[in-house]
Amino acid sequence: MNAEELDLVTTFASLAPSVHNTQPWQFIATEHSLEVRADPARRLDFLDESSRQLHMSCGAAVEFARLAIRALGLSCIVRLLPRADDPLLLATLTVGGQSAIRPGEQRLYDAAPRRYTDRGPYDDSPLPNRVLSRMADAAAEVGCWLRFLDRPGDRLLAAVLVQKAEEIEIQDPRYRDEIDQWRRHDYADDGVPDAALYEWPADRVSDVPLRDFSGADEHRRFAGRRDRPDVERDALLLLGSDGDDRLSWLRTGRALGVVLLTLTDAGLVSQPLGQVTEVAATRTQLQRGLGLLGHPQLLLRLGYGHGRPATGRRPVEDTLIASAVS
Ligand SMILES: Cc1cc2nc3c(=O)[nH]c(=O)nc-3n(C[C@H](O)[C@H](O)[C@H](O)COP(=O)(O)O)c2cc1C
Repeated sequence: MNAEELDLVTTFASLAPSVHNTQPWQFIATEHSLEVRADPARRLDFLDESSRQLHMSCGAAVEFARLAIRALGLSCIVRLLPRADDPLLLATLTVGGQSAIRPGEQRLYDAAPRRYTDRGPYDDSPLPNRVLSRMADAAAEVGCWLRFLDRPGDRLLAAVLVQKAEEIEIQDPRYRDEIDQWRRHDYADDGVPDAALYEWPADRVSDVPLRDFSGADEHRRFAGRRDRPDVERDALLLLGSDGDDRLSWLRTGRALGVVLLTLTDAGLVSQPLGQVTEVAATRTQLQRGLGLLGHPQLLLRLGYGHGRPATGRRPVEDTLIASAVS
């Protein structure tokens, strides 16, 4: 890659989703490889003590970088955790010779600038089965699995546990402080801006509590009210992995990347419901209640939304910390 191509690849990698838009990644380039490194200063100390979500966020950036390299018509081999003596080095992408991008990869690449987290109401058109199976195949290709929670019992269990997790988290002042630290009221190149939050119409509420970034406590405002507004029951999808270690978390991030881009390509949107897998007790209850052998990593609500990308990204100068490319 030359300097211009490297710029494009790192800019594209940063379009990946990350928890609270922390963008906890750094890049180092040589002529034939790109290293993706963790930036521990951008880890959420309270919400992500184990760095699980940091690894998932960086795994998504790895997948976005891979797609950008493929879109240059070059081959790319990804190695996760290539060196045991360098724990911050999460992945090496080795760039090879000419190799035409596959049509499926091209579609995901094209979808990336349109992808965003949609926190608003979704309409209730059913999700096409072919999209669900494409997502499951894409996740399996990078070593993860998806479970579509379409059985009423499974869906209810997940909704109840998200509620429980949200209640546990919201009671802790450290949780609120961390959200405040990553909230942005004007355009910024990281964090969650006002423009990425959505004020729901007064006559509508999701049956699953969405993470409360605004402090408005929308969900609880409606709980127990007799004149309940329209309750929205979105499709829920669980992304998981067989293991629960750093490698599994990076794989989950790669799977999250392709799953979200597959959704965008199909005109769908999503929002992670991270609370349930952040609280150890609800994560275990979800795993047992669904009878899973593997580990739940991220629950998502899916549907047809109405918004567009609203969060910022740090410039290449901030993320590309060393380059031997001229
Ligand atoms: C591991 C992970 C967990 C996330 N958890 C949540 C969540 O619980 N609620 C939410 O609204 N967004 C969640 N997000 C979405 C991020 O906030 C979002 O990706 C980030 O703000 C960048 O915005 P964008 O996705 O619109 O580009 C999560 C993202 C990742 C990668």
